[in-house]
Amino acid sequence: MEKSKIKVVYEYCRAIFSQKGLPTFHQLQHLKNQLDRIEAKDVGIDEFGSRDSAIAIQEAGGSRGLLCGQGFSEITYIHIHECESFSIGVFCLPAGKTFPLHDHPGMTVLSKLPYGSVHVKAYDWIKVDEELEQVLELTLWPGVVGLAGRVIDGIMKAPQEASILFPTSGGNIHGFTALTPCAILDVLSPPYSEDFGRPSTYFSDFPLPFPSSGYAVLEAIPLPSDLVVRGAPYLGPPVAAQYCSYQ
Ligand SMILES: [Fe+2]
Repeated sequence: MEKSKIKVVYEYCRAIFSQKGLPTFHQLQHLKNQLDRIEAKDVGIDEFGSRDSAIAIQEAGGSRGLLCGQGFSEITYIHIHECESFSIGVFCLPAGKTFPLHDHPGMTVLSKLPYGSVHVKAYDWIKVDEELEQVLELTLWPGVVGLAGRVIDGIMKAPQEASILFPTSGGNIHGFTALTPCAILDVLSPPYSEDFGRPSTYFSDFPLPFPSSGYAVLEAIPLPSDLVVRGAPYLGPPVAAQYCSYQ
């Protein structure tokens, strides 16, 4: 029997993220190509389904149904896999909902939009010397701040090639606003971990008119009180939940 597309992704993640050392550019490009094949149904979602997702699950009655892509009323996370080396999951956003700016410390992240359209804003940190720090008056800010350069401020619309971000480039700090109901399939390596110093931090951005447009001061903020992320079961083809780790 032919392997499901998501199982191919899982097995390739296991091969390249569990090896010693970082994956090569060629390996990441191959993973990106595999992610580009993924459609909503490959991760257990009917992108056109508009009924309440909870009803769809009940009707599945133990068999593997599909979640309704147009039926999410809150941001919803569908967990597919997590081990020490990587995680795979899908965020489903209803139209108009925002997932605020957040970082991915020390991580490589591949993101694929199986359906819908979303506005993306992404930044990378910029090293600031003492002189610029004084000009920007960064020390006067009450919270934890840094200078960041804007990498993306635009619309992603499915089908679109998967994006890759790295620990210090490619837009490591990003946020999304759904323009239509949409889903974002994320592969994170390594995954978030408070224990291993990889927490998720949220930010507010304050765009600067200088040194030139495209720069912003990012201020770390507490978890936004209006951010609601629900969970939903993964109903797509199974991926082996085998233990994996750095060897
Ligand atoms: Fe993210």
